[in-house]
Amino acid sequence: MANLRWGILGTARINRRLIPAIRAARRSSLEAVASRDRARAEAFAREWEIPQAVEGYQRLLENPSIDAVYIPLPNSEHVKWTLAAIAAGKHVLCEKPLALDPAHVDQIATAARAAKICVEEGFMYRHEPLTARVLELVRSGALGAVRAIVSGFTYTRTGDNDVRLDPALGGGALWDIGCYPVTYARLIADRDPKMVFGSAHWTAGGIDEEFMGLLRFPGGATATIYAGFIAASRTWLEVLGSDGALTVPNPFRPGPLETLELERAGQVERIDVTGSPEIFVREVEHFEASVLDGAPPVVSLAESRGTAASLSALYASARDSTSGLRPVSP
Ligand SMILES: NC(=O)c1ccc[n+]([C@@H]2O[C@H](COP(=O)([O-])OP(=O)(O)OC[C@H]3O[C@@H](n4cnc5c(N)ncnc54)[C@H](OP(=O)(O)O)[C@@H]3O)[C@@H](O)[C@H]2O)c1
Repeated sequence: MANLRWGILGTARINRRLIPAIRAARRSSLEAVASRDRARAEAFAREWEIPQAVEGYQRLLENPSIDAVYIPLPNSEHVKWTLAAIAAGKHVLCEKPLALDPAHVDQIATAARAAKICVEEGFMYRHEPLTARVLELVRSGALGAVRAIVSGFTYTRTGDNDVRLDPALGGGALWDIGCYPVTYARLIADRDPKMVFGSAHWTAGGIDEEFMGLLRFPGGATATIYAGFIAASRTWLEVLGSDGALTVPNPFRPGPLETLELERAGQVERIDVTGSPEIFVREVEHFEASVLDGAPPVVSLAESRGTAASLSALYASARDSTSGLRPVSP
């Protein structure tokens, strides 16, 4: 019998990846999906063979046969529904970014602690063996002291009907995909940045369709990050240390087999890393372990707070036209 009975808030596209993962995870079952619209909930439940279709997110939260919820709502809705789920006694796996303001992560942490509820931000790559191997190499000193981290995530976004285009819903490239290189840089530096600088290209609709950021970490490492909706689909991560350089393929969505390249003194070592046959399953299973066994979360709320602090500082820097960009004289 499954130990963790899941409900999903919203009929989001990303559910296509999470539903098979919940079903593949050893101690989970998917019981219900809720939508703002009854017919949409019913159609989705039929398509995905989910036992219960519920009209309204709050009604799903009130269902005593649900233990945990997955929240794949637009970014602006994450805090509100995470707090509502905690109040209803449901554990929460919430899509990234958990919050757009670090103070809201504090609110979530206080409520979760008081209610003894597990809340985790969904960064699937954090659960993959490739990430663990990268961190092991960096922390073992294989690169010497980390000096520079260069990372990015781009794709060409098409269509006009997308929550990513609405600033009121937390749209824009930084929140959508910039959060990946920012969190990875923080992990490698093993601390929060002390200074950031951001520059964006804003659309007439008010979202950043392209974002460049610089993060300075205590100890001297810097990261440059790039995220955008208007360049070809690509992800990258390179780490440069005093003694070597590491190139990481597919850092944010690793495939079943990836090969790291570690270059030291002119020699390139290739390191194969076997990943998950099915992505997102480890994320769900680690969440099961937190709820059912009391295991510490892979992505703690302290880390999510650091993420929200870095992202909101980058965003504010890019919004501020006096933040340091200088025109080049002809
Ligand atoms: N981890 C990953 O790899 C990954 C990948 C993609 C997206 N994501 C994250 O997942 C979340 C959802 O992304 P998505 O692309 O799947 O979104 P989406 O397809 O647009 O779905 C969002 C859902 O939210 C509900 N919703 C509630 N209020 C809404 C509003 N005001 N406008 C529009 N929809 C509203 C809708 O469900 P109902 O109408 O049924 O209520 C909708 O289906 C985002 O936070 C994103 O960052 C993560």
